[in-house]
Amino acid sequence: MGGKVTITTLLEKKKLKKPITMLTAYDFSLAKAVDLSGVDCILVGDSLGNVVLGYEHTLQVTMEDMLHHVQAVARGAKRAMIVADMPFLSCHLTTAESIRNAGSLIQAGAHAVKIEGGGAQVTGTVEAIVEAGIPVMGHIGLTPQRVLQLGGYKVQGKEEAEAGLLFQEAKSLEAAGAFAVVLECIPARLAERITTGIGIPTIGIGAGPYCDGQVLVTYDLLGINDTPTPKFVKKYADLHAAVQEALQTFVAEVNEGIFPDLEHSYTGQKEKICKLY
Ligand code: KIV
Repeated sequence: MGGKVTITTLLEKKKLKKPITMLTAYDFSLAKAVDLSGVDCILVGDSLGNVVLGYEHTLQVTMEDMLHHVQAVARGAKRAMIVADMPFLSCHLTTAESIRNAGSLIQAGAHAVKIEGGGAQVTGTVEAIVEAGIPVMGHIGLTPQRVLQLGGYKVQGKEEAEAGLLFQEAKSLEAAGAFAVVLECIPARLAERITTGIGIPTIGIGAGPYCDGQVLVTYDLLGINDTPTPKFVKKYADLHAAVQEALQTFVAEVNEGIFPDLEHSYTGQKEKICKLY
């Protein structure tokens, strides 16, 4: 499966036209499982807000939340490159604060940070963070931290002007020193145009098959929650059903006195134990 994945590995994969894979993880156990799958990158996404913390959207995720979960993932992953999302407002106030926050995520165990947006302010920040020696992954298209501005989770770049703007944002992120860019929820042919138009890898989510790589939220592909998922999610398992079956069987067996049986109990000599009281 090869050694540790670095940004060089990803750039090499783009050159060789080998697909890049990325999956999310937010805790030690899932990070271990995801790492073992042979995936290239583990994203500690701010989707942890919706998926794990039960927030309405990612705007509520804080640096403290991210640091806690990055540390857990870093203890579980041995090979994959760990990318940590910079949460809402953590890279929008001052340049110094943005670099400090990015640095904290690296010190917590991430190998790179991901920043949403591709406008002038964001690319300026990307440049400053890269200048500090921290690899940055961009993220354009549907950027969930701007859900209030976007008016919902909608496909982006369907109109010509908007598509042109996204293409320019991808170019600007590359110029600012980003090593890759996530394309979320954009038409497949626009993703293809961006992928062939820039020298850094594109990683798509809801952006069709012509990107250099693909990312999904692991909880979605495993079917852990029974909430509706977007069209682009393919469910590779139905863990919600499997988990419910196991949990309900436990409850029923305890209620019926079936569990625990002697096989799942410790045995000892009755006389010795009786001496205890
Ligand atoms: O937070 C996240 O999981 C993400 C992916 C959807 C790319 O940013």
